[in-house]
Amino acid sequence: MFVGSGSEDRILIIDFGSQYTQLIARRVREMNVYCEIHVWQKADGSFLRSFLPHGIILSGGPESTLEQRPPSLHPEVFNCGVPVLGICYGMQAMAGQLGGAVESSEKCEFGRTTLRIIRPGTLFAGMGDQLSVWMSHGDKVLAVPAGFTVTAGSANSPIAAMADESRRFYGLQFHPEVVHTVQGTEILRRFIVDAAGCRQTWKPASVLADQIDTIRRLVGDEEVILGLSGGVDSSVAALLIHRAIGKRLHCVFVNNGLLRVGEAEQVVASFQRCLDGNLIHVDAGDRFFRALKNVHDPEEKRRVIGAAFVDVFQEEAQRLTNVCWLAQGTIYPDVIESAAAQTAAAHVIKSHHNVGGLPEHLHLKLLEPLSQLFKDEVRRIGHELGLSDEIIYRHPFPGPSLAVRVLGAVKKEYVEILRQADHIYIEELKAHGLYNNVAQAFAVFLPVKSVAVMGDRRDYSYVIALRAVETTDFMTAKRANLPAQFLDEVAGRIINEVRNVSRVCYDISSKPPATIEWE
Ligand code: XMP
Repeated sequence: MFVGSGSEDRILIIDFGSQYTQLIARRVREMNVYCEIHVWQKADGSFLRSFLPHGIILSGGPESTLEQRPPSLHPEVFNCGVPVLGICYGMQAMAGQLGGAVESSEKCEFGRTTLRIIRPGTLFAGMGDQLSVWMSHGDKVLAVPAGFTVTAGSANSPIAAMADESRRFYGLQFHPEVVHTVQGTEILRRFIVDAAGCRQTWKPASVLADQIDTIRRLVGDEEVILGLSGGVDSSVAALLIHRAIGKRLHCVFVNNGLLRVGEAEQVVASFQRCLDGNLIHVDAGDRFFRALKNVHDPEEKRRVIGAAFVDVFQEEAQRLTNVCWLAQGTIYPDVIESAAAQTAAAHVIKSHHNVGGLPEHLHLKLLEPLSQLFKDEVRRIGHELGLSDEIIYRHPFPGPSLAVRVLGAVKKEYVEILRQADHIYIEELKAHGLYNNVAQAFAVFLPVKSVAVMGDRRDYSYVIALRAVETTDFMTAKRANLPAQFLDEVAGRIINEVRNVSRVCYDISSKPPATIEWE
């Protein structure tokens, strides 16, 4: 266990599969209290005794407690003496298991609802008679268990909140973690700080010393290998592990020939210095281009690039005979998503896990020091470790690199055109102070030709599309509203400066349906 191995107060979030579970964790950590999410099946007595939570939050979930074998809680959750807050399904599970009753509602309640406070107690004291809250449920609690009182109701849920103040058990039918619940953060704070007594002392950066200790303890005097891409996650993981074990960390940077202008040079220059020269730079461009020959399909490109990366990395790893650990910059959302993907029958739109094959191939122990941190927390740690803002705030860049931004066949000539167009676009975004206003921006090469007049000459050349999106979670996105004047300037520069481009378009599609990358 990495973060939170120290002595800080901690909240356990038991996950019943709600789409908002990550949001609960975000809210808790924003209050400077450490928390972890674990699925309901895992939270048994021995887990609770080792995790030692100060409070437990039960998430919502898509199931119904009225099903034959509903997701349920180990009895120890209610017997271990710590406060429990059940949200939505979590409240229904709590009511059902402690002797209350749950029924299926005729009317579902979705969206904004007015909550009438009946008994304020710890969670609602001083908040007035009514609150605007966010509901999303079908079932509801019909009778509270012994020891509980009804603390709030709504038009469709006479029991919209319940409490047993003596045991510090609370149930909320609405979602306090969602911004539309006006006092939601304060309600959560009251549970975490007032009821569970957590001290608000946890900070992502203050766990650095703890993590360095943990890495030293785990790794002992063995050696570690890490694939450095130059993105924020692998960069922070590299610096952190290097702080812990110095030259016993070996980083491998694979230049796949599909990177942006100056990227490989920048990664090598900045990391060679801070990793004591222990950076292996593999220039494998030709190998990747050979592997991509005649590959048109986006998923096939991802597979081919992933496999080529594993091969190159494996060759380097075999040269380092003392290496026992493979480090990866996996972050918390990756862990949660892959756990969810293992249990849910989700459709694969794009297979993003580019290096998924590595651990099995290499037979190494896995070291993932960022696996309990959200992206912004990783950025703060990066800052603390002296990583440059340029790397920390860089827009995301996909593992398959420019190959998924050259539509169809990936030819060197196309990649070169794209690289130059993209460079101009990003340079102008930075020069106009717009780069940090958009979540992600890039150019795309379209292998179609269009007619233009250049001077008195007819030209027949390729098309570049510009994409810029606003998003926080990358699951949904809107096109960024870049000024027309700015787009004119960028288009003008690309057409004048990049050979074989005669036309530039701006992509105005939203996600869904259009994904952020074109492939
Ligand atoms: P999409 O295109 O799915 O992109 O809307 C969402 C985010 O994921 C990035 N992306 C990838 N990242 N490997 C990655 O590491 C991939 O294969 C991949 N495909 C898309 C994309 O850049 C955006 O930030």
